[in-house]
Amino acid sequence: MVEIKCIGILTSGGDAPGMNAAIRAVTRSAICKGFTVKGIMRGYEGLINNEIVPFTTESVSNIISRGGTILKTARSKDFQTPEGRQKAYENMKKQGIDALVVIGGNGSLTGARIFAKEFDVPCIGLPGTIDNDLYGTDLTIGYDTTLNTIMDCVDKIKDTANSHERIFFIEVMGRDAGFLALNSAIACGAEAAIIPEELMEEDQLGHFIGRGIRKSKNSSIVIVSESPKCGAMYYADRVKKEYPEYDVRVSILGHLQRGGSPSARDRILAARLGAGAIDAILDDQRNVMVGIRNNEVVYVPFKDAIRSDKGINQDLIRVLDELSI
Ligand code: F6P
Repeated sequence: MVEIKCIGILTSGGDAPGMNAAIRAVTRSAICKGFTVKGIMRGYEGLINNEIVPFTTESVSNIISRGGTILKTARSKDFQTPEGRQKAYENMKKQGIDALVVIGGNGSLTGARIFAKEFDVPCIGLPGTIDNDLYGTDLTIGYDTTLNTIMDCVDKIKDTANSHERIFFIEVMGRDAGFLALNSAIACGAEAAIIPEELMEEDQLGHFIGRGIRKSKNSSIVIVSESPKCGAMYYADRVKKEYPEYDVRVSILGHLQRGGSPSARDRILAARLGAGAIDAILDDQRNVMVGIRNNEVVYVPFKDAIRSDKGINQDLIRVLDELSI
């Protein structure tokens, strides 16, 4: 086994608040344990194009509170090809990088898994995504901040919804997962959440309308998980057609959900997982994502982390239902 002296870090996929805190934690923890560190720009693109810079403890000063990622990020198409990965490997060797820490979501860790297998390169993943859709970790870096951002926005929308006695369909991100939608609905006291995990969209909308929410309330908030076909617009149009008596509006929160200074929870999570990544390398762990379960740092093999069946806690659905009467 090659002795690991130099660790390369990159952020990949959609940025998430707390990625900078994670970069800082990995860098400082690595330097503290005697490794050298290199920052790879623009995710896997930077590895392919040799955009790599030496990192010192100062490189990561004053970034813990900043949203986004100082390393920039990308969704690299080239890295999905064997030729792209070959180039990435050659640059890694040229730069003297012995191991990689990849901070990103499902696609990024899938890339790391393939790369690690192909070239026998030690890769450690950190779950960096607002979607919270990685298996084997209770939380991903960025999720808590985004949840709070959504909550702030919805609280504001509720003021106007209430004043005008309107139904608002508010669309939130999450890709194929409903964690943001369901938990923000609970946090905001919304009337319903429409999420991809709960099969039939008719059922979810029908359920909400069927309860005659408007009989007892003068406004309603429905949080809708983004979806190419059945987003907030789709539901609003349906309600407008089927219930013309209701005054309906749509608000799509969009990319503002990914921005902003990370919450304390995300900063602490990023710090623990970043330090955990270096512990994993010292422990000879390979090709695992560092996650958190029941407040303990855990190592999850890539093949499990990228499973698509994390699953929504049914109790949350019940609680939302009961509390929105
Ligand atoms: O995975 C993070 C995420 O923000 C998803 O919630 C969303 O579907 C997607 O990225 C948006 O990607 P882009 O920034 O490329 O529009």
